[in-house]
Amino acid sequence: MLPFLVYLLLRLLFSCWILPIHVYRKLRKNGFGGPTPAFPLGNIREMEFLCEKNIKDYDSSLESPAISHDIHSTVFPYFSKWQKSHGKVFIYWLGTEPFLYIAEPEFLKKMSSKVQGKRWGKPNVFKHDRKPMFGSGLLMVEGDDWVRHRHVITPAFSPTNLKTMVSLMVEPATKMLERWTALINTGKTEFDVEREITTMAGEIIARASFGLSCENGGEMLGKLRAMQITLFNVNRYVGVPFGQWICRRKNMEAKKLGKEIDQLLLSIISVARNKCGEGSGQRQRCLLGYLMEGERLNERELVDECKTFFFGGHETTALALTWTLLLLAMHPHWQTQLREEITRVIGDGEIHFTNLAALNKMGWVMNEVLRLYSPAPNVQRQAREEIKVDDLVIPKGTNMWVDTVAMHHDPTLWGDDVYEFRPERFKDDHLYGGCKHKTGFLPFGFGGRMCVGRNWTFIEYKVVLTMLLTKFSFSPSPSYHHSPSILLSLRPRYGMPLIVQPL
Ligand code: HEM
Repeated sequence: MLPFLVYLLLRLLFSCWILPIHVYRKLRKNGFGGPTPAFPLGNIREMEFLCEKNIKDYDSSLESPAISHDIHSTVFPYFSKWQKSHGKVFIYWLGTEPFLYIAEPEFLKKMSSKVQGKRWGKPNVFKHDRKPMFGSGLLMVEGDDWVRHRHVITPAFSPTNLKTMVSLMVEPATKMLERWTALINTGKTEFDVEREITTMAGEIIARASFGLSCENGGEMLGKLRAMQITLFNVNRYVGVPFGQWICRRKNMEAKKLGKEIDQLLLSIISVARNKCGEGSGQRQRCLLGYLMEGERLNERELVDECKTFFFGGHETTALALTWTLLLLAMHPHWQTQLREEITRVIGDGEIHFTNLAALNKMGWVMNEVLRLYSPAPNVQRQAREEIKVDDLVIPKGTNMWVDTVAMHHDPTLWGDDVYEFRPERFKDDHLYGGCKHKTGFLPFGFGGRMCVGRNWTFIEYKVVLTMLLTKFSFSPSPSYHHSPSILLSLRPRYGMPLIVQPL
């Protein structure tokens, strides 16, 4: 027994103390600076302190509702502070895990050109921590498994397939519009559009992913939302040795919710298998049907992909729409311009997949919103092999944190009007909005692992925004307090109350 305990102690000492010190020295020797970490929390204390200070400052200034789009120091106060002393590429530590922080597009370009999609890792600490939410779905899976999953999933998002999804998007959106009209008829013209749009986007993904009715999708949404709050609302000391024990209750809760969601999905998959017999043609109507074709994913993998779509697919798009409504409320002339475009392109007819592409100005608005308020505020990777960038060496195992918000708000990349809402910057350069570096605009990530659902988003965004703008006008509400914050995604901390009026 005693030798075993000594062995255990030595292993612990090695992985929690000796190995991190070795990596720290190696990174320093390789030329990477950064804030000094302290054992065992790394830089977490300072991160916590700066976030709490930010919230306190915000709460005490709730009286002044000035809206600024210069949000980097609000959402990532620690990165903003460390950038001042260590530049745009440095190392920080979550517990005993080193993270290479990157907010420099040229460095990112050089680094990513060295690694193929399938050879990238996703940080083990996050994979473990987020397992109840994403399992081994496409977002987290690596190597040959990633190639297999990506090959099965990519065709599900082809234009031919997405065409059939438009009607599945229109129905939940119509339901939401009717709800808003009913609210307005009772005299209530101000409500939280974030909550409304997130619910609607959840219904869309429930129908389009699994053919679920809005009601059945509601149970799944409720559980996913509960899991998200459990996992991300408090600091659970990810990367800290025994961190999972410090937050045991929260982790158990998340695990339990994860199991309940898995059970729900398993029953949905089994119904879909029975209902959609070969040749019935019904399989094609939802994403799950596509993924089940050819039986290339096993049941466990199907469950994880469904969870990934459900979570990754509804909240991000809902937030893009939510931030859009705020920006349009602040800039009514853009509401007018988009309405004129809708009248010209769609008129009074039905929304069709084919005419969505002609909504060009709406595309510029979407890109500008994704720049200023990118729902996915960062991209993560882990080096599975040593990577050389010029004369710097990134050791195998180093985690990476690409700060999308920093790059999207960098005046050296976008110019002096970086904090202004100017959709027209995408007029002549619809992909990069005139950004001085092509890797500086990355709302959907980069390289081979770029978001597989981005075409879905373009469609859902345009369908829903068209429906909203043809029925209502939007103006800012005095009760809105601008406090963008991170709960995995970039969201308005206090919701998004707006004044909504029928046209
Ligand atoms: C505004 C909407 C969206 C944003 C901002 C967004 C953003 C992102 C980002 C930043 C990544 C990581 C890319 C990387 O690691 O380089 C990603 C990956 C992914 N997204 Fe999205 N996404 C959106 C919508 C969607 C939708 C609608 C779906 C599905 C229905 C989806 C499914 C996925 C999946 C499965 C991956 C993993 C891809 C891979 O690793 O191969 N996303 N997304």
